[in-house]
Amino acid sequence: MTTTSYTWAQRPIPLIRTPLSLNPTPTPDQFTFAATEMSNVHNCIIRAFNSIYLQAPHIPPSHHTPFINYMLAAYTGLKAHHEGEESFFFPELERITGEKDLMDANISQHADFHSGFEAFGKWLQELKNGREIYDGDKCVRLLDAFIGPLSSHLNDEISTILQLSKYGDLLDLRKLGKAEGDKVMGTLNKTTQLPVFFLNHDLTYENGLHASFPPIPGVVTWVLREGFARWNASWWQFATCGFDGRPRELPFLGQKS
Ligand SMILES: [Fe+2]
Repeated sequence: MTTTSYTWAQRPIPLIRTPLSLNPTPTPDQFTFAATEMSNVHNCIIRAFNSIYLQAPHIPPSHHTPFINYMLAAYTGLKAHHEGEESFFFPELERITGEKDLMDANISQHADFHSGFEAFGKWLQELKNGREIYDGDKCVRLLDAFIGPLSSHLNDEISTILQLSKYGDLLDLRKLGKAEGDKVMGTLNKTTQLPVFFLNHDLTYENGLHASFPPIPGVVTWVLREGFARWNASWWQFATCGFDGRPRELPFLGQKS
């Protein structure tokens, strides 16, 4: 089975092909590098939300609680990613280039899916607090309200980063991207939130080109993925990859999928 033939690789949001895979080189320029890193983060988000969308109608009552926790991790992870961009990464790009509205299109795309995304988050909180009962069809309806604009945004931001090449060496995207990644990862809980990224990063994607992502020491990645993630192992059974980072088919696809 190739990595792109899994159900979750195609729908509802197709995975992004990374700029590095489209222009392979052992020494990518900083723009290709940063756009590829962003693609990797976005692909983790896509895998997580695809896994939720595809499994939501088929989760048996015995698995509702871990699925709600899995969805909350995905929601919190995406929220943290966008808040990191709006509070640090985008303002830094605008400050360094002197272009006050450089990232306006991307920020307005965040706004395009914000209300639907927040309605989903509110519902998850109600489920967590026991004020709502899980309903798979409602879950899909709530996702349908923002998944289209989210998909456009996750793709368009990659082109925006590539287009920053017109600023050349004025920017240091490797440094900025690392600072941004460290900040966001630092805000996420290692046992309840961060695993949603590690268990949705396919180490075999594009022939293993991104096996060393994220750019932190391998031993740290291993401890986070193989150690901390096992703390709430039942939550990550819904994810697209195992603790070894290898892709797998989803367990709750129902009969038609
Ligand atoms: Fe992003």
